[in-house]
Amino acid sequence: MRSCLDLQITSAHCPIEDKNYLTFEEEGLTLVFNEMRVCFDFISLLKRHLKQHYAITKEPLAKSLGIKGGKERTILDATCGTGADSMLMLAFGASVFAYERDQIVYALLLDALRRAFLVEFFLPFKDKFNLFLGDARNATSSITSSCQTIYIDPMYEIEKRKARQKKEMFALDGLLGKAGDGEELFHWALRVAKERVVVKRPIKAKKILDQVTASYLGKSTRYDMYISHNLEK
Ligand SMILES: C[S@@+](CC[C@H](N)C(=O)[O-])C[C@H]1O[C@@H](n2cnc3c(N)ncnc32)[C@H](O)[C@@H]1O
Repeated sequence: MRSCLDLQITSAHCPIEDKNYLTFEEEGLTLVFNEMRVCFDFISLLKRHLKQHYAITKEPLAKSLGIKGGKERTILDATCGTGADSMLMLAFGASVFAYERDQIVYALLLDALRRAFLVEFFLPFKDKFNLFLGDARNATSSITSSCQTIYIDPMYEIEKRKARQKKEMFALDGLLGKAGDGEELFHWALRVAKERVVVKRPIKAKKILDQVTASYLGKSTRYDMYISHNLEK
């Protein structure tokens, strides 16, 4: 059954028009955007990650964030998006405070979280994932001071062919556009981060700052890690 919600909300850059809408489908709240359907599913993401039995000491994202087995780590995911990176952080054993400033993306995330709460499998993660609507720069000092790492994955031009394979990211790209304020978010993060800031970049992209402490390479992604003392405090 297709029940179209005429929510009359607009996204940062692109109004939701007739052919672009939010609807409730069997899977959950779904964004139909340029004929792509996007519905986030935290449970299958988490299950897929847990099946991989990642060696945390070898995973570029975990290493950049400072996640080590047996040590509590809390991450502020300042750009939650589809929640995929947040779910990976949970699978690595970290706790996450996640911010998403776009209302439509947030609605999709919130519905994915609501559905996850109904599944027993999610119980161990329930208190480890906190989702907020709003700009991460409005995070309270009690939140920033409880996170060792701030993680940023700004919007950047993604190669069309690869993006189409990742339909969520492609739809988000079309919906949100390139915000272009990733650097401001980065400088804010350097000022408030307790320990480190990690920026996700395409593997060949320019560094935001030359004083990067370490870079961790994935297949097509680079995680630039900055130890925050001395840089902007
Ligand atoms: C490239 S996507 C992030 C993808 C994400 N890492 C994932 O796993 O899907 C960037 C997202 O961050 C959000 N965003 C950008 N700047 C933000 C800010 N200052 N505060 C909160 N959300 C922000 C955008 O609305 C967008 O949904």
